Amino acid sequence: MNNIYDKFMAPLEERWLARYRRLLMPYAKGRVLEVGFGTGVNLKYYDFSAVESLTALDMKTEKEIEPAEKHPVRFVKGEAEVLPFEDSSFDSVVETLVLCSVKDIEKSVSEFLRVLKPGGTLIFIDHVLPARPLMAKVFKGVDVIWTKITKSCSLIKEPHLIIEKKDNIRFIEKGSFASGVFRYGVAVKEK
Ligand SMILES: C[S@@+](CC[C@H](N)C(=O)[O-])C[C@H]1O[C@@H](n2cnc3c(N)ncnc32)[C@H](O)[C@@H]1O
Repeated sequence: MNNIYDKFMAPLEERWLARYRRLLMPYAKGRVLEVGFGTGVNLKYYDFSAVESLTALDMKTEKEIEPAEKHPVRFVKGEAEVLPFEDSSFDSVVETLVLCSVKDIEKSVSEFLRVLKPGGTLIFIDHVLPARPLMAKVFKGVDVIWTKITKSCSLIKEPHLIIEKKDNIRFIEKGSFASGVFRYGVAVKEK
């Protein structure tokens, strides 16, 4: 599984994603939760001198995923929509390329913020429905078949808008790349 996913993603990684993972992952500090850990692509970008512990949650088991990168992480099988953790239990929550696949984005984002301590950071990168009309039309046109092939990933979600609407966060990094196909951010939970 890791081979297929990582090979498919390789051109995107090289062209764009690696740069933004490198920029954003060092914001993760203390007790870190990564939701939708997948093959562990973010591992090499963390600053482990600042990370006290890393909990890797995914709806698939570690065995199903076969992470490519090896690092001591606590692996937990679970769903973004109902995180199996107490309130305020993490200093950082990381989510990259996961909200395109979850059943309920609103619920997932609320869960990320619930398990974050006040003052903690939410770090995310997602692909979204592009703002440019022609690109949006293409994304909408291929979405049904794409979602069928990938079994869950949708090209027409706008998770960044749901995150931006939350009133208890303050952004310290926010932007887009690849002509607006990807949105990213680092937001501090204020209360
Ligand atoms: C496209 S992969 C992204 C992997 C990695 N985060 C990255 O940046 O490349 C999405 C991952 O999220 C997981 N996932 C999808 N929906 C989920 C959910 N509702 N709860 C937890 N994990 C989920 C999938 O099993 C998969 O490993």
